[in-house]
Amino acid sequence: MDNIIVVNNSILLNSLTKLRDKNLKSSQFRKEVSNIAKILLFEALRNEETEMRRIQTPFVESDFPSLNEDEYVLVPILRAGLPMMEGCLEILEDAKVGFLAIKRDETTLESKVYYERLPHLEEKTVIILDPMVATAGSITKAIGIIESHNPKKIISLNIVVSKVGAEKLSKFKNVKFYVGSAGEDLNDKGYIVPGIGDAGDRCFNT
Ligand code: PRP
Ligand code: URA
Repeated sequence: MDNIIVVNNSILLNSLTKLRDKNLKSSQFRKEVSNIAKILLFEALRNEETEMRRIQTPFVESDFPSLNEDEYVLVPILRAGLPMMEGCLEILEDAKVGFLAIKRDETTLESKVYYERLPHLEEKTVIILDPMVATAGSITKAIGIIESHNPKKIISLNIVVSKVGAEKLSKFKNVKFYVGSAGEDLNDKGYIVPGIGDAGDRCFNT
């Protein structure tokens, strides 16, 4: 499972503990999801290649390292990926954004893609944003669609991944997953336990 990196960060753990509290208000829930997304993004892009950019500082003109931000495409999985997108856009302000809307059928647990709007992904680094990987059905669909557009690289940021989900993700050798927690159980309704509940509902107070 060396493509799954559990990010060991106390601020992330503190935010994740807040998310687990069923009394956390939606506004706070979105804020913590956004904070965790930023921490996962920092880790995922820690060693990215930078290029030198000419800058006029207050005192001198010189070259400094910078990221080509618009080579990154954020792909939030609707709905619960949206607050992750907000957080990541605070860091990568010029990233492009594509959307995939995927919904699990609550009885069969089968995931269906109901909206897709992606920019050109060739030569881009795609960053998938979805807080939850339970059966991994939804993210498997997302990766399949994204791979068919031949991106340069795929990274996925996920907050909670179940044990079953982690086993499925380990098969995507060409995708690196940066996650807050991996190895939690799935109950008979397909929810992660302890987990954080239904992330979409909790984000949007439904
Ligand atoms: C949630 C979550 C993931 C998916 C994970 O979305 O945001 O996309 O479930 O479950 P899986 O790994 O078993 O596919 P949901 O289908 O509830 O849609 P929502 O965000 O609109 O509520
Ligand atoms: N989707 C969620 O939002 N939560 C879970 O626990 C499982 C799937």
